[in-house]
Amino acid sequence: MPEKFLNHIAGRWVPARSGRTFCNHNPATGEALGDYPASGPEDVDAAVLAARAAYPAWRLTPAPKRAEIVFRAGEIIRDRKEDLARAMTREMGKILVETRGDVQEGIDMAYLAAGEGRRMYGVTTPSEMPNKWAMSIRAPIGVVGVITPWNFPFAIPSWKLMPALVAGNTAVFKPAGDTPEMAWHFTKIFEEAGLPPGVLNLVFGSGSQVGDPMVEHPGIQVISFTGSTDVGLRIAGKGGASGKRISLEMGGKNAIIVMDDADLGLATDAIAWSAFGTTGQRCTACSRVLVHERVHDALAERVAAKAKALRLGDGLDPATEVGPLINKSQVETVSRYVEIGKGEGALMAGGAVATEPALSRGHFFRPTVFSGVPGDARIAVEEIFGPVLAMVKVKSLEDAVAINNASRYGLSSSIFTADVHRAFQAMRDLDTGIVYVNHGTTGAETHLPFGGTRGTGNGHREAGHTMLDPFTEWKSIYVDFSGRVQRAQIDNN
Ligand code: UN1
Repeated sequence: MPEKFLNHIAGRWVPARSGRTFCNHNPATGEALGDYPASGPEDVDAAVLAARAAYPAWRLTPAPKRAEIVFRAGEIIRDRKEDLARAMTREMGKILVETRGDVQEGIDMAYLAAGEGRRMYGVTTPSEMPNKWAMSIRAPIGVVGVITPWNFPFAIPSWKLMPALVAGNTAVFKPAGDTPEMAWHFTKIFEEAGLPPGVLNLVFGSGSQVGDPMVEHPGIQVISFTGSTDVGLRIAGKGGASGKRISLEMGGKNAIIVMDDADLGLATDAIAWSAFGTTGQRCTACSRVLVHERVHDALAERVAAKAKALRLGDGLDPATEVGPLINKSQVETVSRYVEIGKGEGALMAGGAVATEPALSRGHFFRPTVFSGVPGDARIAVEEIFGPVLAMVKVKSLEDAVAINNASRYGLSSSIFTADVHRAFQAMRDLDTGIVYVNHGTTGAETHLPFGGTRGTGNGHREAGHTMLDPFTEWKSIYVDFSGRVQRAQIDNN
């Protein structure tokens, strides 16, 4: 029997007003895991009302006290790390090593965001007038709508909600339909940590029934979204039309550049981890390798051999290296791209759904490598979000940088080289939000800004020293203690 879960609105656990539910499934086994409210606009209304009602008192709670609740949540997450990781593997499919990392990112973010409660620095600056004081402070914005994906179901809500709450906002949280349980744990933990009712409201349901009503709701001032570029741009259009602040984290087509002087063994291991970890379903996944023509064939052989040797299975089995895709529709997308790829490059590994009986109930696809793919081929350009890697021959670093920068996306990129001059040139010229040297394209740490250029985002960065930016307004304050009317720009000139 699947468990039954409820929305969290105004501090109470409640069903959808319609009474409807949906079920989530284990992508490795097909097992039904839980029933969740299939909420609608009326549940969003209730959540926004609760968030608005909780806002005045939360805004005036001292920031260090707000942050202590976030810190306590971090302590609870740390105590439950293993259980949370297991639940995440069951629900999302990625292997335990990786789900532990996802939960750890939540712990790291809790401690980092909690520290902001005693910093949240503003700026004081001299006034141009005598006997006048000037400063800028951060102020919360109001109600924040948070819409999160299934691939990092604990880390990404942490990047968004923890700083939003520390800054004094209240929130409505809509998680992806494929990973509702992680959002339920997240919200439950904050309740246990002492968050007042209504500060964090959780509404389960679909994009059209919950996400769109949030984006259009006049009671929500900020939407923070991570997901596909198409959905993100639609949100930007709809939300922007009513003047909302929209913070978007979207697609990626992350390249690893391998120069002819690189350590090919190291590059192979890094490529395999970045391309096939999380079954290729990271925004930061490496999905194209731009490799110097002198080492292209040798590297393609090595990467293909590594891909073939990866062990597929249920992520709860410690021997498993690659888990399933999230759902059937992802299997269809990946299969479609592999068919396209067969006309664009040489298939070196994988290329098919896994057919072993033990895997037959899950959404397993073999790690796939194409070599000799033109830089502008569809599999080298479009985001696939699966375990499919295109290897592209380049003649020089300049050639590789040009191909990298021509992408619609700009999240992360990487270069493998032993030449310090080339490394610095790449750090300067690669137009992505994150650049790695002698390291794959995944593995961002929470205390550095996370986000991308071009089609990956709209200029915002999550986490890092920038974590408060999407969730605060700058307020400039002037205090005149001259006792006179002093006209700036006029009386002093
Ligand atoms: C994502 O893929 O959406 O750097 C987030 C990484 C992880 C976060 C990825 N720490 O790959």
